[in-house]
Amino acid sequence: MILCSNPQAQYVEHKEAIDSAISQVLQSGIYILGPETEAFEQEFAEFTQTEYCSGVANGTDALLLALKACDVGEGDEVITVSLTASATAAAIHQSGAEAVLVDVDPESYTLDINQLQEKISSKTKAIIPVHLYGHPAEIDAIMNIATKHGLYVIEDCAQAHGATYNGKQVGSFGDLGCFSFYPTKNLGAIGDGGAVVSSNRALADKVKLLREYGWKEKFNSSIHGWNSRLDEIQAAILRVKLKKLTHLNKRRSDLADIYNRKLAGLDLILPSVQDSCGHVYHLFVIRINDRDRLMRHLREQGIQAGIHYPTPLHRQEVYQSNQDDLKITDAYCKEILSLPMYPELGDNIDTVCSAIIDFYKHK
Ligand SMILES: Cc1ncc(COP(=O)(O)O)c(C=O)c1O
Repeated sequence: MILCSNPQAQYVEHKEAIDSAISQVLQSGIYILGPETEAFEQEFAEFTQTEYCSGVANGTDALLLALKACDVGEGDEVITVSLTASATAAAIHQSGAEAVLVDVDPESYTLDINQLQEKISSKTKAIIPVHLYGHPAEIDAIMNIATKHGLYVIEDCAQAHGATYNGKQVGSFGDLGCFSFYPTKNLGAIGDGGAVVSSNRALADKVKLLREYGWKEKFNSSIHGWNSRLDEIQAAILRVKLKKLTHLNKRRSDLADIYNRKLAGLDLILPSVQDSCGHVYHLFVIRINDRDRLMRHLREQGIQAGIHYPTPLHRQEVYQSNQDDLKITDAYCKEILSLPMYPELGDNIDTVCSAIIDFYKHK
């Protein structure tokens, strides 16, 4: 079976370095928030061109901690897209605020700037742009709008480690940037993990307090926090993989070039890269009318494709907002298909392309 994503393949390729990093932690006797986490935080802040980083338990918590650091809570509205992982809205809900969902731009599949402006109200406190599939949102325009209205910007970078806008790393534009290290991500742990980056000292300090019971010093809470710590084993693994991230992203980009070349001319829509954007292809998402039939055909050939996401947030029971103005999101959710994409995919990409070409021959 050719999987859609395959974190095990990455472990196998870097087994020696990962095993050794794990073993060192096991022998150190320090298992949570120790030297590995501290070193990773420094290295990841440097990578994302920010001043501060806090390692946290997962990407959903990263968003929640960022929202809480900005004092977002009951009575506030937070604007984000409907075409995203449930996690984005889950974090907003958990903060006590209401998620206001907007459509995506038809080319970049990221937050629609026009709808964003229409939906800003007196209750709006923050915007969460999602750098979906590894493609940056129009972050310059979003920052301008946020500044004009006095809103916080919290970047959801869970799918975009290393993506750039005008050569600058995502996560470094907003007040805070939030990352997930779920195993399939471009930078993935072997378990859960996340990080919040920022160059705003006060916000970064608050995230650090919030992630451990609001402790200013041990056993002494100065604000209400909870437990959202990164453990040392995950931090040590992330340090190994961070050194390889640029190379691993390059491999994703080379694979995207192969897909683009081999699938050109077929009756499907390939992903586009907008000006000034450095795409890191967390997912390689095509659009096709006959999506479900192609997906079945691929499965019969032993190829797993995915859908990110089959039901947009505004059509899910818990977030239902009965909105009819998210037309691109509604239309695209019926057409999108994520083809296998991970750095170790290698020559398997030829099998995937042949199977797709074969589908069109027999259509
Ligand atoms: C866009 C987006 N935001 C947030 C998250 C949440 O990350 P986690 O699964 O680590 O909580 C994810 C990952 O699933 C994601 O894809």
